[in-house]
Amino acid sequence: MYDLIEKLVNAYGPTGRETLVADTIEEMVKPYVDTIRRDAMGNLICEKTGEEGGQRIMLSAHMDHIGFIVVAVEKEGFLRVMPVGGISMNASLTRHVSFGNGVQGIICREPVRDGETPAMKHMFIDIGAENEAEALSMINLGDMAVYSNDCFRLGQHKVAAPAMDDRIACALLVAVLKELPQKTRNTIVAVFSTQEEVGCRGAKTAAYGVEPDIGIALDVTGNGDTPETKLPAVKLGAGAAIKVMDRGSISNPELFSDLLAAGKAAGVPTQREVLPYGGTDASTIQLTRGGVKVCTVSIPCRYVHSACEVIDLRDVDAAKKLLVEYLK
Ligand code: CO
Ligand code: ZN
Repeated sequence: MYDLIEKLVNAYGPTGRETLVADTIEEMVKPYVDTIRRDAMGNLICEKTGEEGGQRIMLSAHMDHIGFIVVAVEKEGFLRVMPVGGISMNASLTRHVSFGNGVQGIICREPVRDGETPAMKHMFIDIGAENEAEALSMINLGDMAVYSNDCFRLGQHKVAAPAMDDRIACALLVAVLKELPQKTRNTIVAVFSTQEEVGCRGAKTAAYGVEPDIGIALDVTGNGDTPETKLPAVKLGAGAAIKVMDRGSISNPELFSDLLAAGKAAGVPTQREVLPYGGTDASTIQLTRGGVKVCTVSIPCRYVHSACEVIDLRDVDAAKKLLVEYLK
């Protein structure tokens, strides 16, 4: 599992630029599904056809990763940027970032004048260019940078990396496809979605095209297990989290119970998740066509939207077994 995770977190793929991630995943899942297509939004839609009269179950894991987009270049060669998705200024200070073309940089903040609040306009990326012309020979306006690859094991069971949100769920979904029996009663549609971090846009068109009866988003969630953080009441290492509610969706109660029961049948630990913030692809899947029953299976994650997002491999394993049991 670690190798699969490392491969996926290391693929360059800021929001709206997910092609390389999709290419990597397509190679991995090809032997395990019947059809693969991509839609205009860049979603990778992999279908495993079930029996006639079975349900259509869509699982969605987003491929995109928060980042920075270049909006201007200063005459000294520094890049002004805007966030793409929920970037935290504090978490990004003096972080190593990488562009898709291999240019490396450091994101920094200038001193703020008295009475001024630090804002994104005070941030810049230093790519080592000595002036505007040199900078523009290295990057273009509109290019995107993400936190640089840095995947490592933390203690016995944990792994840290940028882009764990949501490549950990991409890895989980790939692993689930590998473990499913050749024939399933229901049609299973694995969607690797785009642009989740700017409002779950990919899942919206994917769900419209897929026409699912049931939608299950796979994503990371917060943690309530560091000294001063108690919410959500979810702990790393305590199992797959099944969502009751967040800011974007209220899970269908029957689907929630079915997933909880699948966890029990698979003999894996589960946790009930009520998240006071955030949302997942479930938020847009549920509003597709005449409405879709949704729930989210979450992997608890510390320091979400930082360059060191931490997950526990035992939770990934629990989520995998739960989903395989449910889909069988
Ligand atoms: Co996110
Ligand atoms: Zn996410």
